[in-house]
Amino acid sequence: MKKTPELFENNRRWAEAMTARDPRFFLKLAEQQAPEYLWIGCSDSRVPANEIVGLAPGELFVHRNVANQVLHADFNALPVLQFAVDVLKVKHVIVCGHYGCGGVAAAYTRNRFGLVDNWLRNIQIIRRKYDHILDAAGEEKARIDRLCELNVIEQVAHVCQTTVVRDAWRRGQELVVHGWIYALENGLLRDLDTTVWDVGAEEKICAEAIERLAQKTPA
Ligand code: CO
Repeated sequence: MKKTPELFENNRRWAEAMTARDPRFFLKLAEQQAPEYLWIGCSDSRVPANEIVGLAPGELFVHRNVANQVLHADFNALPVLQFAVDVLKVKHVIVCGHYGCGGVAAAYTRNRFGLVDNWLRNIQIIRRKYDHILDAAGEEKARIDRLCELNVIEQVAHVCQTTVVRDAWRRGQELVVHGWIYALENGLLRDLDTTVWDVGAEEKICAEAIERLAQKTPA
């Protein structure tokens, strides 16, 4: 079997560099993790969660899937959310999409890739729901980027509607849900201003964020 020695070599150099900076770095991490943030992002290799927000190992709990979705019956994303909120007691849940998302583009153009098409079905539903906004967004690339933004807002609402997050808020736990989007072209994050920290508040906040997108002039 072909091995990938360069990755092990990279790993050894990385571990040495981390230890040089702080000799107890890995020992401390091995004892416990206490991240303040849960990141729900896209699997896209160009959006490495820790790196783009400058956080070290131990500081960011991460869940990634194609097109950063949180579906109500996804028993991969939901246990991650539950563990992060109930056990790790993260203070922030960040849903982060990115412009030029291949998953969102595939859903928009209805290009077929296989099994993943079923996973992306929900984004086609979002597309249909906001047809009027997408139609006014300009050419295809701009429409897909607008759908990337709409998808983040929808997923923020989904996070807020889970029993995990609602129960946390009901018992007074400090928890804020954010919707962000990342630009591959310049490496910068943008806040979509869909920050929610109370039961039921997501409906108005997300509707207002969508209204702001509807008011934007075509790109
Ligand atoms: Co993507």
